[in-house]
Amino acid sequence: MKNILVTGGAGFIGSAFVRRAVQKYPNYRIVVLDKLTYAGNMDNLLPVQNAPNYRFERGDITHRETVERVLQAHQIDAIVNFAAESHVDRSILDPDAFINTDVVGVYTLLDTARQLGIQRLHHVSTDEVYGSIEQGFFREGDPLLPNSPYAASKAGGEMMLRAYQVTYGMHTTVTRGSNTFGPYQYPEKVVPFFITEALEDHPLPMYGDGMQVRDWLYVDDHCDAIDTVLHQGAPGTIYNIGGEHEMHNIDMTRFMLKTLGKPESLIHYVADRPGHDLRYALTNDKIRAELGWTPQHSFERAMEATVRWYQQNEWWWRKIKTGEYLDYYKRQYAARLAEA
Ligand code: NAD
Ligand code: DAU
Repeated sequence: MKNILVTGGAGFIGSAFVRRAVQKYPNYRIVVLDKLTYAGNMDNLLPVQNAPNYRFERGDITHRETVERVLQAHQIDAIVNFAAESHVDRSILDPDAFINTDVVGVYTLLDTARQLGIQRLHHVSTDEVYGSIEQGFFREGDPLLPNSPYAASKAGGEMMLRAYQVTYGMHTTVTRGSNTFGPYQYPEKVVPFFITEALEDHPLPMYGDGMQVRDWLYVDDHCDAIDTVLHQGAPGTIYNIGGEHEMHNIDMTRFMLKTLGKPESLIHYVADRPGHDLRYALTNDKIRAELGWTPQHSFERAMEATVRWYQQNEWWWRKIKTGEYLDYYKRQYAARLAEA
């Protein structure tokens, strides 16, 4: 591999992967293809903007001509697909874009790559494709029972990968990551949303009773696992990437508030998310046994570092929390908070 296309590389996890890969692999050319939706942000790529082995292309993974042009122009050897509509609450309000990018976009990448003879595609998926589990841990062979339009569209994308691996012999791999947090995360996901709201002493809308469980994975660990699978993953193989740190939402929020030095009275219980998955939990047995990967960051230290980053980088999040963001905030939270 020499030339790697990173789709969705201006988003949260994709940009962390790019910042890392540009440093770690000076002999690779890292090309980002990103549509720059509301979630794509060139500020996330400022640290690499002058790196000689980095290129940026603005474009949509559902547009075959764009994908073909970029793959050919940069003589791409491998694709890592982060591009997605990624927020569950938005998928409940407006599912269209999710089907387009997360299913049709994946198909377009696969089919264009196949036609150009590019064999290698790694797809970044999610633990949400399994649905919810009350006890025990999901393994890679378990059935997919996605519950939100987001999760269903990610499962659809995975099915296309499987078909292209089985039918055309492409070297595809899939990772199913758990809830990821860290710097540069768009402040709609619960961690950056609650941190930045708390910094302004705004109410934190906790869905339902706050007893849902998520498995928290630091973004650097997630990127390290994807890098490992990209280089060593067996063709057609799926790997879970869990943070090995389950927490109830209420406990995660209390820890965050304590780190911020803000009172728990900011927490407001509001109407629940429709179809809210109670618990996500994965086993890392396979990736640990086959590729020797395990998460390296403790939750507490990673959350403290994350909180400090948002405290010290108001320039980054304050300009996001305007315009479209405020419209979304009103649609998602105004009635809930008024009722609470
Ligand atoms: P994000 O929303 O921060 O970034 C998504 C990026 O994709 C943005 O830069 C956006 O502009 C780009 N994009 C969207 N539609 C596009 C299109 N049609 N063409 C080209 N670019 C497009 O997402 P994230 O949180 O960084 O997630 C990245 C990937 O990881 C997604 O596939 C997501 O499903 C998966 N994932 C996320 C988490 C998490 O907790 N955030 C956990 C597991 C898996
Ligand atoms: O598990 C991996 C998935 O994690 C990724 O595939 C998704 O891209 C990512 O968005 C995330 O999905 P979640 O729905 O778990 O993340 P979110 O940050 O939206 O919510 C985390 C938990 O916090 C969930 O139980 C809902 C709750 N929550 C969320 C928000 C935004 C609240 O209670 N209030 C909120 O305002």
